[in-house]
Amino acid sequence: MKFGFFDDVRKEYVITTPKTPLPWINYLGSQDFFGLISNTGGGYCFYKDAKLLRLTRYRYNNCPMDLGGRYYYIKDGDTVWNPGWMPVKTELDSYECRHGLGYSVFTSSKNGLQAVLTAFVPVSDTCEIHRLKLTNQSDAPKNIDLFSFIEFCLWNAQDDMSNFQRNFSTGEVEVIGSTIYHKTEYRERRNHYAVYSVNKPIEGFDTIRDSFLGFYNSFDDPDVVREGKSKNSVAHGWQPIGSHHLKAELAPGKSEEFIFVLGYCENPRDQKFEAPNVINKKPANELLAKYQTSEQAQAALDELHAYWDKLLSTYNVNTADEKLNRLVNVWNQYQCMVTFNMSRSASFYESGLGRGMGFRDSCQDLLGFVHLIPERARERIIDIANTQFEDGSTYHQYQPLTKKGNADIGGGFNDDPLWLVACTYAYICETGDFSILDEPCAFDSDFSKAVPLMDHLRRSFNYTATHLGPHGLPLIGRADWNDCLNLNCFSEEPGESFQTFGPSEGPVAESVFIAGMFVKYGKQYAELCQAQGLEDETADVLGKVDQMIKVVEDAGWDGEWFVRAYDAFSNPIGSKVCEEGQIYIEPQGMCVMAGIGVEDGKAAKALKSVEEKLDSKFGIVLLQPAYTKYHVEIGEITSYPPGYKENAGIFCHNNPWIVCAETELGHGDRAFDVFRKTCPVYLEEISEVHRTEPYVYCQMVAGKDAPTFGEGKNSWLTGTAAWTFTAISQYILGIQPTLKGLGINPCIPSGWNGYTLDRVYRGVTYHITIDNAAGAQKGVACLTVDGVAVPGCVIPAEMVAGKQEVAVVVTMG
Ligand code: BGC
Ligand code: NOJ
Repeated sequence: MKFGFFDDVRKEYVITTPKTPLPWINYLGSQDFFGLISNTGGGYCFYKDAKLLRLTRYRYNNCPMDLGGRYYYIKDGDTVWNPGWMPVKTELDSYECRHGLGYSVFTSSKNGLQAVLTAFVPVSDTCEIHRLKLTNQSDAPKNIDLFSFIEFCLWNAQDDMSNFQRNFSTGEVEVIGSTIYHKTEYRERRNHYAVYSVNKPIEGFDTIRDSFLGFYNSFDDPDVVREGKSKNSVAHGWQPIGSHHLKAELAPGKSEEFIFVLGYCENPRDQKFEAPNVINKKPANELLAKYQTSEQAQAALDELHAYWDKLLSTYNVNTADEKLNRLVNVWNQYQCMVTFNMSRSASFYESGLGRGMGFRDSCQDLLGFVHLIPERARERIIDIANTQFEDGSTYHQYQPLTKKGNADIGGGFNDDPLWLVACTYAYICETGDFSILDEPCAFDSDFSKAVPLMDHLRRSFNYTATHLGPHGLPLIGRADWNDCLNLNCFSEEPGESFQTFGPSEGPVAESVFIAGMFVKYGKQYAELCQAQGLEDETADVLGKVDQMIKVVEDAGWDGEWFVRAYDAFSNPIGSKVCEEGQIYIEPQGMCVMAGIGVEDGKAAKALKSVEEKLDSKFGIVLLQPAYTKYHVEIGEITSYPPGYKENAGIFCHNNPWIVCAETELGHGDRAFDVFRKTCPVYLEEISEVHRTEPYVYCQMVAGKDAPTFGEGKNSWLTGTAAWTFTAISQYILGIQPTLKGLGINPCIPSGWNGYTLDRVYRGVTYHITIDNAAGAQKGVACLTVDGVAVPGCVIPAEMVAGKQEVAVVVTMG
């Protein structure tokens, strides 16, 4: 069943009923100010940090799940309704929510009145704009009362929902004209406040929640709205809110538009006040002056559209499959940008209170956005490297505001260091900017110890090379990519963190997955060494890589597939000798991507085993058989009921590893088949089963062992976005940035005749035509650039130097 449709021309997903299976959300904001908005207007906004600088309140685990947001109450006679249906839930005559790139538009109507509410964050201002247009589509005049409503968060979202003995006494506001200023804690250490304003004179306002709602009411029946009159309440303590009362007299056919601004303002510390305890309103006045007219708001929206059009022009494919086109050209890249902005902090599943930026998450996310925003990717790499320790190990997370490593969780996740090589290599392949390797980067944020980024990469590689276990495989530490495989943890007490309990480095538990990474990213590091003229180091690195390949082929190979790990007693995990968890997806994907066993058939065998043992109609499950009981020596993975999360769920993040691996073997049909299964645009028709948004990936789909097989959870903030974009854009469609220039080597279903693609790469636009009349799955028979034949699959950057555009034709066969 569908709950909407894709509007490809406008790059929007159009939701046609407010009653989606889960809240279907969108993100507003591209720089520092962000909002989450659901298809019923729910959600919240924050400045830079979802935990520390939260403007509006959101309640977790609420009932209904999505309650609280930016609510506009329209009172037309006795009927009260909201453009997003919630919270009053009056049956609407029409409803539509269009989630577009950085904006959402609600168009709904009731009794001949139409409301169009457009919400967005301007490209370079720290506010949300809510533009609300009311149109009288009936034959009679209408007198409308309009009430706005948002609930302020007292900035620190964690504290806001726990420290009531203090919070109920700190709230403060000022109201001047049509503007409500939320200034809780401004009297002391904060130098910022929130502002909520509308561009028209108001009839009244409220800033005390209980006055607005009535003490016994919920959001669906506010006293003030029922009575049609604001109380002009001024908050002192308790729960400050912002509500305006406006009137619209609308003759038949007439419209009126209101522009609401909800913004964040900051003052220099020595200019906080204009009079004792009266806040300096200069930044607010400047902000509000920019959004007083419809023309101003429209110009800001146009700028946002232009921003996205430019970003998305970097990679644009045209295949015969319109679903694939919309996924690749719009939604997958959009999700990659959201993961750049949010990391894993704020979604409807990530509360914005917990994790900062993950080290490995941020490095992998970069693979999906480096082509879109190379300069910001560069900055991100340096930020990440600055948190590394001198021995090459890393903090597992860092805080976006301070950019410092997060000491609560510390380090010891032994895959982390190698991801730094992966993202730096991807950045240089995209940009050709080797100068990043000379950039001085700190250790543990101590800039007095800064060394060039290249030396950080060296330490990443060497850390892994020097932390090996009894089989010669890398030590796993607290966990590798699979945060829940905690082989050194041994937690017996409820509530202990599986991630941080136990020694950060057990003496013997080893990871075949990290070994695969060591081979894949070790080879990339060797390429960087070579490009820098470091011949001895190149040879040394490649020697260690070769040695690791031998170890994997021996201790890491089980006869039919790659083993997952060895536990603290040196017993294998993910091997046929195990009772449960005999085969895991991760080492099959990573080892084959690294090229291990490609020549002697091990790779093909491993992927065959994946197909036989792990595949399902909704994707490849993480492991089989699922663990049915808790194993203290294996950790969190065995804490999940079978079929959920890492315990045999379909973890969307590593399905694309299998896609990439299949293309290494030239299996275009199979690669695309695997790709399709977890791809949301192909699941749109079964949204009642899949439940999460059909326009973005979710982290996990319940596996075949789960009672809710096929049900998605945890949408938006997942490394899946970057890896699926890598899999489809580079491995299937075959556009591969390399150190030397753009590589083109598709691996596609044999039934595809071909496709065209525009790719902006290092300032040159490549108009690419792939001809597959031969019905091949892989293989470049001929490659020409502006008619000139190029040997191999890589177009050397020098060949196109100075050109703006080139025409590339690739004949497969
Ligand atoms: C989840 C993992 C996640 C980890 C983060 C676990 O509970 O299952 O997916 O990576 O928490 O700390
Ligand atoms: C989600 C985490 O953000 C990521 O770092 C981890 O690799 C996966 N879960 C798998 O556990």
